[in-house]
Amino acid sequence: AAAPVITIDGPSGVGKGTIAQMLANHLGWHLLDSGALYRLTGLAARKGTVDFNDVQVLSEVARDLDVAFLPGDHNEPARVLLQGVDVTSEIRTEVCGADASLVAVVPEVRTALLQRQRDFCTQPGLIADGRDMGTVVFPDSVCKIYLTASAEERAQRRFKQLNGKGGDVKLSALLKDIEARDHRDMSRETAPLKPASDAAVIDTTGLDINSVFDVVLKLCKKRG
Ligand code: C5P
Repeated sequence: AAAPVITIDGPSGVGKGTIAQMLANHLGWHLLDSGALYRLTGLAARKGTVDFNDVQVLSEVARDLDVAFLPGDHNEPARVLLQGVDVTSEIRTEVCGADASLVAVVPEVRTALLQRQRDFCTQPGLIADGRDMGTVVFPDSVCKIYLTASAEERAQRRFKQLNGKGGDVKLSALLKDIEARDHRDMSRETAPLKPASDAAVIDTTGLDINSVFDVVLKLCKKRG
């Protein structure tokens, strides 16, 4: 039988990644961070000085991505390797996020990444986090979650996170970036960001991460 999948979709900075990781740890299931595949495609294209308008070459970059996801444990955080090079922090930068959303509008890139994403679905189960997990990649999933929060709240959370690490970014710049990314992700023609018709939508504005996790876990148990 196919392994079960829980999909977690939503806009940038809503905390999907954290919730997905918490669920995967809790259930002992595999984790797919699909955004990382788009970030890696953008990064590989930059490193190869690929013209971002060249759809053909971009889709080849996506198809041929040489990546490894090394799971973390209590001593070591999870790592991402691109052609054997550790790019874990590099793919988290704002620039890389913006590049990811550029390559993500290209239908051929999305197609090239489709099977690779489905291959993550193995026993005992998968937590898949992204924008189109419930709508396109795993439409048959029985448990689909869609997380939202206001753009202001997401910018605030990101601000705290970055400045806590000694970064120096302006809240207004983060808000602009989040709004631009929302717009691009929601208005693209292929696999736009939107809740699946059978997704449970959770507004996390004003909730801390543990409260969101409790709500999500209850929902998953209810939906088998
Ligand atoms: O989730 P994350 O911020 O890492 O995703 C980076 C970008 O990749 C998103 O802004 C979006 O444009 C794209 N993406 C996507 N489909 C997914 C995951 C990410 O289009 N399933």
